[in-house]
Amino acid sequence: MNKNYEKYATLQKNNAEHLFNIVKNLSYETVLDVGAGTGFLSKYFNNCISLDIDKSLKTYHKKFVVGEAEHLPFKDKSFDLTISNFALHLCDVELSIKEMIRVSKQYVACSFPIKGSLEGWIYNFPEENTVLELLKSKNIKVLEKTIYSIKFTNLELLKFINTTGKPKRIHAKNFISKSQIKDILVKIENPYFIVLSFLLEV
Ligand SMILES: C[S@@+](CC[C@H](N)C(=O)[O-])C[C@H]1O[C@@H](n2cnc3c(N)ncnc32)[C@H](O)[C@@H]1O
Repeated sequence: MNKNYEKYATLQKNNAEHLFNIVKNLSYETVLDVGAGTGFLSKYFNNCISLDIDKSLKTYHKKFVVGEAEHLPFKDKSFDLTISNFALHLCDVELSIKEMIRVSKQYVACSFPIKGSLEGWIYNFPEENTVLELLKSKNIKVLEKTIYSIKFTNLELLKFINTTGKPKRIHAKNFISKSQIKDILVKIENPYFIVLSFLLEV
């Protein structure tokens, strides 16, 4: 994780608050935060395990597990709530959501940018319909769904991309180098993210 992450990741920080507001009135004890980063979201919970593929993030957390969102190292129904803020677009989103559902006893809450974000960029953001189809086929209850968009200046976006992460899996389909990012960024005139958040009962 880049040392300037917390300085420039305002969007993730605000979005962590947005996601926490969605779950704060539910009843749960054990929580798993998937792709926890430096813990913008984990810090809201007393009994939370933070999971991330980047082992250097251990120092930010009370309870930390190194692992991949696509292969969560937990038994079925291990947590009351599984939650993820601004990480699943860097993962295989379908596999990761299935895994979050598998290890949850009751609630799953996710928030990440979707297709339509940063138009003109070749990054493969998840498609809203693919995600919603997946939720239907699992026969689970969607308790809440929100979509909002957020605008950036190009400079803000460059700082954001350089400090706030890219896919870490060795075989990640979405991998793109820093120099490619810079080339592409100058071509995006009005950068914005479209952010999908949802709360499921499983
Ligand atoms: C943009 S950061 C968001 C971090 C945090 N959730 C937040 O709100 O600040 C994305 C995080 O996802 C992690 N990540 C990327 N691919 C992953 C994967 N396949 N499995 C688990 N974590 C992953 C990165 O290491 C990074 O910490």
